[in-house]
Amino acid sequence: MRNLMLGTSWKMNKTLEEANAYCDVLVNRLNAAAGPHIQPFVIPPFTLIREVTTRLRQGGVNCLTGAQNMHYADAGAWTGEISPAMVRDCGATLVELGHSERRRDFAENDADIQKKVQAALRYQLRPLVCVGDSAQEKGWGVSIETVVRQMKIALAGLARPQVEQVIIAYEPVWAIGDGGTPATADEAQTIHRALRQALADTYGPDTAENVTLLYGGSVNPHNSSALIQCPDIDGLFIGRSAWDAEGFCRLAHNAATWRER
Ligand code: PGA
Repeated sequence: MRNLMLGTSWKMNKTLEEANAYCDVLVNRLNAAAGPHIQPFVIPPFTLIREVTTRLRQGGVNCLTGAQNMHYADAGAWTGEISPAMVRDCGATLVELGHSERRRDFAENDADIQKKVQAALRYQLRPLVCVGDSAQEKGWGVSIETVVRQMKIALAGLARPQVEQVIIAYEPVWAIGDGGTPATADEAQTIHRALRQALADTYGPDTAENVTLLYGGSVNPHNSSALIQCPDIDGLFIGRSAWDAEGFCRLAHNAATWRER
């Protein structure tokens, strides 16, 4: 059985003081809550990555950190952007790419995300690529085509060992945020199975088994256990329910309890 990943992006939330308070709870509780088979991760805004990484490391917490986005260029005249080297320099080891809010609000497209995946791997950052169908695409019955296409473009040009470094998060756009409806476990499993099958068709069954596939979108303490029990779901990517550190630890504990059964 695979180990599971369970993480949160704070999106555009938290000051330094709030981040420190969050980390203090994680230092006290997260290792015990997550146990040996759950790999937790936290993705703060850029301004807090260094502090959060340092505080968790000094506190002996097994928790990866990441960035919510980055530019694909190594360096240069890109005012307001953050390079892969800068993300690494802050201590992050993950980088989230292609979240639907980036695609919708900042016009990121699949080709941009593909360049960012390549850049992340050049800098030893594990890309966490979000794919998702809109409510309209779901209504048209093209959810699988939509997310498989997004995933294939993101991975284009990678060798098998690189593909295994990439984490894919299925995040239905209709499930994310206030007003979102969480996918049922059956809906999520159907899409995850299709993603796994598409990976097997392109890269072979061994690589497909080694890629971590997460589910995200309105995960909460009530639906997390059913989602995590799906055979093709390797973990959860959580927003609002994990913005409070106690909530994050509780979700990690729920996942660990199920995983150790
Ligand atoms: P949510 O966010 O859990 O608040 O719906 C999920 C996400 O955007 O990754």
